[in-house]
Amino acid sequence: WVASADRHEDFLQCLLYQNSNAISKVIYTPINSSYSSVLEFSIRNGRFNTSATPKPLVIVTPLNEAHIQAVIACSQKHGLQIRVRSGGHDYEGLSYVSVLPFVIIDLINMRTVTVDVGNKIAWVQAGATLGEVYYRIAEKSRALAFPAGVCPTVGSGGHISGGGHGMMMRKYGLAADHIIDAKLIDVKGRILDRASMGEDLFWAIRGGGGNTFGVVVAWKLELVTVPPTVTVFNVTRTLEQNATKLVHQWQSAIGKFDEDLFSRIFLSRVNTSQEGKTTILAAYTSLFLGGVDRLLSMMQQSFPQLGLVKDDCIEMSWIESTVYFASFPRNTSLDVLLDRSPGSTISFKAKTDFVTEPIPEIALEGIWERLNQLDAQAAQLQFTAYGGKMDEISETSIPFPHRAGILFQIHYAVDWDQKTASWIRKLYSYMTPYVTKNPRQAYIDYRDLDVGMNNLGNTSYKQARVWGTKYFKNNFDRLVHVKTKVDPANFFRNEQSIPPLITSW
Ligand code: FDA
Repeated sequence: WVASADRHEDFLQCLLYQNSNAISKVIYTPINSSYSSVLEFSIRNGRFNTSATPKPLVIVTPLNEAHIQAVIACSQKHGLQIRVRSGGHDYEGLSYVSVLPFVIIDLINMRTVTVDVGNKIAWVQAGATLGEVYYRIAEKSRALAFPAGVCPTVGSGGHISGGGHGMMMRKYGLAADHIIDAKLIDVKGRILDRASMGEDLFWAIRGGGGNTFGVVVAWKLELVTVPPTVTVFNVTRTLEQNATKLVHQWQSAIGKFDEDLFSRIFLSRVNTSQEGKTTILAAYTSLFLGGVDRLLSMMQQSFPQLGLVKDDCIEMSWIESTVYFASFPRNTSLDVLLDRSPGSTISFKAKTDFVTEPIPEIALEGIWERLNQLDAQAAQLQFTAYGGKMDEISETSIPFPHRAGILFQIHYAVDWDQKTASWIRKLYSYMTPYVTKNPRQAYIDYRDLDVGMNNLGNTSYKQARVWGTKYFKNNFDRLVHVKTKVDPANFFRNEQSIPPLITSW
């Protein structure tokens, strides 16, 4: 092993030698005054922004493909790991932290979005955030949209690599279901498109997770149509307003929901008085792809118990709804979608589950009891209805396998400290009887290293299968097959990247 400092010097020399074309302007090392701000700008989980967090030897913010090719070539030559970062929202910080000496390729400068309204497609560079994608589409046409995640600062590089779900998933499925071509730079530095990478690799990058098959430079996305008016609502019910029964009834109502309706429940413990009284609050949040009158008649048929009324609902355009669901006040300028920096960064831990049978009321009460063990607002659960289009897409169509039969997904999140870390793991254990089994499924975009991980030194297929089948079910084996073909020496790797069958590390 060459000492890190030498290795990093050699690496820099290699970069400058390989490519003098302005690359020196986008290289940041710890002695550079902008290094910390470039590193921290896209850290979205404060848990991985401490003095003890391992830092990259070098950050490169490429301006073009040649810069990425240079980093890939020089990293291999000088034994450095690569972490690719688009939006930096990885729940476990894997796009900017590694225990091995590493370089970050941060795609913040590669974020052009080109929309072709006539053909209903867009080329999106991986560094573009979802907010930028939504904004650029709406700038060209209010009849077109893209079905992806809710938070506008999420990067399209990582998000779409893991599937990507959001407010239109019951109508249109996942973001990754809409990839029709891509530009990927592989371990050999080749720039591949769908035709040259072949259908196996093209299948794998549509949901098989980031930092595994190469660097995605851009996606070609098929856009979807939206009506001029959509309706949103956010209706809350406390325990005193029958929340337990309503959450229970919601689970049976999902199957009757029209696919134009997205439905999610946020569950948390909230203060109800100055004297410290608390209750459990269930907030029903929905996007309906249509006007309020059709929504009300549909809700009357499928979920009358909620008691939704016209005053609860707001009609707006789809693009306005993206700002609404990002929790900005009404009439905030759409320009906020272009802002890559959220107001504050929290430290959190999250986990996911999938549910196929309604959870009994008594078990819901057990969840409330556990929420009552923490301070108000310290934890939140989200129940996200599946069904609709998600049921129609085969579980082998892309690597994301959570399709027909899934009633809803649970997302557990908690503000991070030692007490809450053990709390969320105990809650997860409590939920075992009520969620999918063999495997207990999880969503890779909500990454959770508790479900298993690779040893960065020497990962066996058997070890990786433990976490791999939770994220991908039997698609895991096909992903391993693709990885073995395209990156047999396992250069692109992290704690939850797909391993090749034979590995020399
Ligand atoms: P980041 O840059 O951290 O990358 C994530 C992973 O992909 C890393 O392993 C990284 O190395 C790799 N990667 C990134 N760019 C790559 C590229 N160009 N080529 C190859 N590999 C690449 N999810 C969801 O489905 N729906 C939602 O509504 C939300 N909402 C949400 C809100 C907030 C506040 C957070 C923190 C996260 C979400 N997510 C989400 C989860 C999100 O989809 C997930 O964290 C994505 O991986 C984030 O993609 P980024 O590019 O931002 O992350």
